[in-house]
Amino acid sequence: MNLWRRLSGRSRTLALTGAGVLVAGGLVTLPVTAAQAATQCSVEYTTNDWAGGFTASVVIKNLGDPVSSWNLGFTFPNSSQRVQQGWSAKWTQSGQNVTAQNESYNGSLGTGASTNIGFNGAWSGSNPKPTQFTLNGTVCNGGTPPTSTPPTSTPPTSTPPTSTPPTSTPPTSTPPTSTPPGQKVDNPFVGVKGYVNPEWKAKAESVAGGSRVSNNPTAVWIDRIAAINGTPDSSSNGAMGVKAHLDAALAQGAGYIQFVIYNLPGRDCSALASNGELGPNELPRYKAEYIDPIAAIQGDAKYKNLRIVNIIEIDSLPNLVTNTSGNPGGTAMCDTVKANGAYVNGVGYALAKLGAIGNVYNYIDAGHHGWLGWDSNFGPVADQLKAAAVASGSTVHNVQGFITNTANYSALKEPYVKITDSVNGQTVRQSKWVDWNMYVDELSFAQAFRQKLVSIGFDSNIGMLIDTSRNGWGGAARPTGPGPSTSVDAYVDGGRIDRRFHAGNWCNQAGAGLGERPKAAPESGIDAYVWVKPPGESDGSSKEIPNNEGKGFDRMCDPTYTGNARNGNSMSGALPDAPISGAWFPAQFAQLMQNAYPAL
Ligand code: GLC
Repeated sequence: MNLWRRLSGRSRTLALTGAGVLVAGGLVTLPVTAAQAATQCSVEYTTNDWAGGFTASVVIKNLGDPVSSWNLGFTFPNSSQRVQQGWSAKWTQSGQNVTAQNESYNGSLGTGASTNIGFNGAWSGSNPKPTQFTLNGTVCNGGTPPTSTPPTSTPPTSTPPTSTPPTSTPPTSTPPTSTPPGQKVDNPFVGVKGYVNPEWKAKAESVAGGSRVSNNPTAVWIDRIAAINGTPDSSSNGAMGVKAHLDAALAQGAGYIQFVIYNLPGRDCSALASNGELGPNELPRYKAEYIDPIAAIQGDAKYKNLRIVNIIEIDSLPNLVTNTSGNPGGTAMCDTVKANGAYVNGVGYALAKLGAIGNVYNYIDAGHHGWLGWDSNFGPVADQLKAAAVASGSTVHNVQGFITNTANYSALKEPYVKITDSVNGQTVRQSKWVDWNMYVDELSFAQAFRQKLVSIGFDSNIGMLIDTSRNGWGGAARPTGPGPSTSVDAYVDGGRIDRRFHAGNWCNQAGAGLGERPKAAPESGIDAYVWVKPPGESDGSSKEIPNNEGKGFDRMCDPTYTGNARNGNSMSGALPDAPISGAWFPAQFAQLMQNAYPAL
């Protein structure tokens, strides 16, 4: 997967900074013969530890000739360390020696190719990382050309085997807080810890300073059918499938896990960067090949004590209202999926099927204030959400709440611009930035939208989520007080926290920072601040990049683009050199940490 291409050349830094990532670069211990010279490899071994248990993510990169099968070997430094359950390879352990043999689907590794495997394990005392890895019997040395120096003296062989046999009982990990199965709680985020996606954690820790935030829970995006079982070759999401993530969540002792359901027919109808694999008429495939298998896995009784949060179909329903014909920039694809019912029936089906599971919590995407904050969009989108919630056999009771600002950059609070402020007799609503919107920030919008949704028939205890992964806007450019009162524009532009050129900009925004860390019940009506967009994953490529995921090139991700009707013909504000949406973008992650608010 592309992750490696993005990380290549960084390995040495990783080894120096530590940050939970170990790069194996052990010494070559044998003179290299012609046959052996063909095998070269590097391994990144990352763990997420908790009392007694851990999840390990292991990325193997083949730096030598192509192989059609592989066998990875390493030795645990400590006799208590155990592989309990692995994925994407056949794992075996004998004493402290561990081997992982490829599965049929990931045996072939071309030169430069990598594969990501992992396991849940147990430990006691300490959980040190193995210091050396072998691939097909050859020590991985990170591709360093084999040295011609003969091996140093033979290691002593007289050490007797330890007389204490390794303990056979693996230490138990803390069981997740249990909720009576089938009984949904009002707010699934309260009182339990969130699942840390080990694949995102490893990417975060590949950037200097990343370990300061890498233990935060982020959502797992099921962004194509193949992601259900894991997509080892994809550019964006990782090798772990839904089951592997759920198993890892159990092993972590997590109380909730977050998935994004994101594969509607004709996906991302108003933009190009996140177009998906299903054409607009493929609703039957969406149901049978996507929702049904996810429901089967999430419904496994094994996971009944885990609260499974599903974020349902980002941007889809608001697009039916604001990006169809008759609106500035309306698209033919949005017209098509509105006319054929693909979005409404797809969302209804997902809600009904997933909502039937006793420990599953559905939150539907509800745009953000800079999109829906005008009366002309606010009410009609609420009605559209209701229509989908009762489509395909669903009822409003399958909806625990809504999420705003997913993968967007709208500021949570604007302390220096209040919607009620006026300057020289002009309300801030008349400023170019606010442009008659009824809301200036995400919190006030989410709370008001919740009231509206309850008023049209959603359950009175629904809660809102706000994606605060990238709306921090800290750093040196953050205003510390109101702007000058010389004009309403000067006042708003001088005082606003959100530094975008226009609130319609959405792609890889320059200057953005990490927002509030994930937190349960932070404000009235808000179930949680969450990190649904995993920080550091691109919103879209800044140039055309061919790929096999259906992702297009959207000019809103091109830093030279001067805009369109939907962003007030403003510059896009996007960072340069971005990979396709979902792929790891280390420069963006570094910026997000630098401009975090609250600061790290
Ligand atoms: C984008 C991508 C998707 C990815 C997600 C999270 O929407 O299209 O593939 O999983 O972002 O980064």
